[in-house]
Amino acid sequence: MNDEQKSQYETEGYVIVDDAVDPAMLEPLLAAAKRVKAKARSGEVDLFTHCTPNGEVMMVRGLFAPEFNEPIFADYLLSDPVMRYVEPVLGSELRMGDVLLFSSPNEVDHTGGWHRDFGKNPRDGSPEVEMEILNRPKNGLKWHLALVDDSRLQLVPGSHARYRTDEERECLVNGSKADISAQKVIHLKAGQTIFWDGNTVHRGIYHVEPERMTLAANWRKHTEGEEPAETDERVKWLLADSVRDFLPKKMHIHYDRWRALQLG
Ligand SMILES: [Fe+2]
Repeated sequence: MNDEQKSQYETEGYVIVDDAVDPAMLEPLLAAAKRVKAKARSGEVDLFTHCTPNGEVMMVRGLFAPEFNEPIFADYLLSDPVMRYVEPVLGSELRMGDVLLFSSPNEVDHTGGWHRDFGKNPRDGSPEVEMEILNRPKNGLKWHLALVDDSRLQLVPGSHARYRTDEERECLVNGSKADISAQKVIHLKAGQTIFWDGNTVHRGIYHVEPERMTLAANWRKHTEGEEPAETDERVKWLLADSVRDFLPKKMHIHYDRWRALQLG
């Protein structure tokens, strides 16, 4: 990330770049993503699939597992164009990241709810409580790579660094699916990547047309001495020895750092 990109990422909570993927990898990634979606839709593979209220596949996890047999997703995560952005931010001591497929239902549109990606932390905290959560040190970097043109991510620029407004509270806490006046629709051309801060107020739009085929990925910084914790339900598939065996050798060190912190 150059200084200008870094500054935009820090102030706006996101930055869009053109060169975070090897162009030669785009077509094979799209082909693999289509096979993954077909297997998830048919039910042939379900390691952790997120569905719309209508029961249609919306997000697919487990892309590193042998059940999908698509080694290109781990290769992508390790690829030089990705690492050229990740290492200046997180350093080279990394812990297992992930790659998910964000796609579209085939029959009924769905609009996701507004949220910040901060797990089980309080969702309606006081300014002090919320700012403490938002100001915690960042130990991960996440992004979306559009495999076809994608305008399905909406976020409120700059919201990662401030307390929510009353308008945002209606959406974040009371479940309103209204537009937020300061929202920005993120337009990605195929091959573009958005690095973004999950603390921004954001939502995903899962409409049938045009079909979304976007990879969501992340790496985490590894620091020694962290306490093991219960494994997130959504990534329990990653505990299987067969998954480790299927990963490229180069990724075993990242996997083992992650695995050592899982209570299962
Ligand atoms: Fe999110």
